[in-house]
Amino acid sequence: MTQNQLDKKSEAWSALFSEPMSDLVKRYTASVFFDKRLWQADIEGSLAHAGMLTAQGVISAQDHAAIESGMKQIREEIESGRFEWKLDLEDVHLNIEARLTQLVGDAGKRLHTGRSRNDQVATDVRLWLRGEIDLIGGLLVDLQKSLLDLAEKNVEVILPGFTHLQVAQPVSFGHHMLAYVEMFARDAERMADVRRRVNRLPLGAAALAGTSYPLDREAVAKALGMEGVCQNSLDAVSDRDFAIEFASAASLAMVHISRLSEELVLWMSQSFGFIDIADRFCTGSSIMPQKKNPDVPELARGKTGRVVGHLMALITLMKGQPLAYNKDNQEDKEPLFDTVDTLKDTLRIFSEMVGGITVKPEAMEAAALRGYATATDLADYLVKKGLPFRDAHETVAHAVKAAISHKVDLSELPLTVLKGFNPTIDKDVYDVLSLRGSLTARNILGGTAPAQVHQQIARHRARLK
Ligand code: ARG
Repeated sequence: MTQNQLDKKSEAWSALFSEPMSDLVKRYTASVFFDKRLWQADIEGSLAHAGMLTAQGVISAQDHAAIESGMKQIREEIESGRFEWKLDLEDVHLNIEARLTQLVGDAGKRLHTGRSRNDQVATDVRLWLRGEIDLIGGLLVDLQKSLLDLAEKNVEVILPGFTHLQVAQPVSFGHHMLAYVEMFARDAERMADVRRRVNRLPLGAAALAGTSYPLDREAVAKALGMEGVCQNSLDAVSDRDFAIEFASAASLAMVHISRLSEELVLWMSQSFGFIDIADRFCTGSSIMPQKKNPDVPELARGKTGRVVGHLMALITLMKGQPLAYNKDNQEDKEPLFDTVDTLKDTLRIFSEMVGGITVKPEAMEAAALRGYATATDLADYLVKKGLPFRDAHETVAHAVKAAISHKVDLSELPLTVLKGFNPTIDKDVYDVLSLRGSLTARNILGGTAPAQVHQQIARHRARLK
């Protein structure tokens, strides 16, 4: 395109076209109002490309210097908000290139040698996403640390562990929090793994088939800190699997957030009363003066749907696309951007909110006692006395039935009554019928005994240093 054509894309794309685009088509096909977000990556990629073109003798050192100074000015214009983004110039790439040409003339027009917007956009998205993945990695570490702090303060606090949302066995509240630390640790691992495949260079693939210029793709990859070069030009410009993988890892992280959210919402309800969330994370009701609502976890639970939706959008976008680049791929950006924004905000707010959780140990212990949480411990006690487990299970079912009918906990049944279920029961049974006894007994790797929980906290602390 000549300078004149770049300025006047409102007329027609090139000499080949006999009429201009309608305004509707222009608006429909343009992406500049969202993809301008890629401007830093676009400039970074262009400078690496220009540096390599110079080293390879494709453009002169003079042109290179002009491109560098032009880009410096463009950077300043964008940062200060003075840069004029033009819908007529369709996308971030053409906007920056046109401004460069305006500033430095022919050197600007030489920048696009051996390059297409197809390999350019794939490079920009990868560079941008790599930076975001690194930020997300840091936020996942922050969240794990907040959870570890909460866990450490509450190792000895006993919570009814649930299965089917029915009281099952007592667990340490610290242990419960560490379950989430494990989830977010895997999310961080997944992000790091996705990063390796994001961090490969499409530039040099040009439109789809590679280019006849003697480009040094490895050198560009190195200049951009990328781990390698995409090895097939058709694949390089067309696949967005890296974005889909990222959206999938982000969705899983949000799913984990949504599980924690659901527990926080339940625990803060009057029926549970296990925790309180600091007022700054809650809102009131416009009609019911007594209300304090856990809006942040509720919203996070809702936003999980939004992120999973973006994963569906991206994977469906890719489905059935023939090689190589298709304009469909312009649609990768908004879901990807919103996924990043939503995940980052959610991780940030959760790190802070976890620090604002007040635990109510008495309510948790009372709930554990109401649910016969130590029934398994009584069965295990009988097994140690020689009963086969299945028989012990049945015996304890009778004991629980009796306790229910007397409206007492198992530990409140007199020894004579307990002996009635099995004569081997002795007064040491009360050690295992207590919540604390039950907890301490599960002293196995990965178990809820406080000694184990302390070891796990130490392991996580060392890992996250
Ligand atoms: N805005 C386009 C995108 O986001 C850039 C690549 C366009 N390439 C093309 N040949 N039309 O995918």
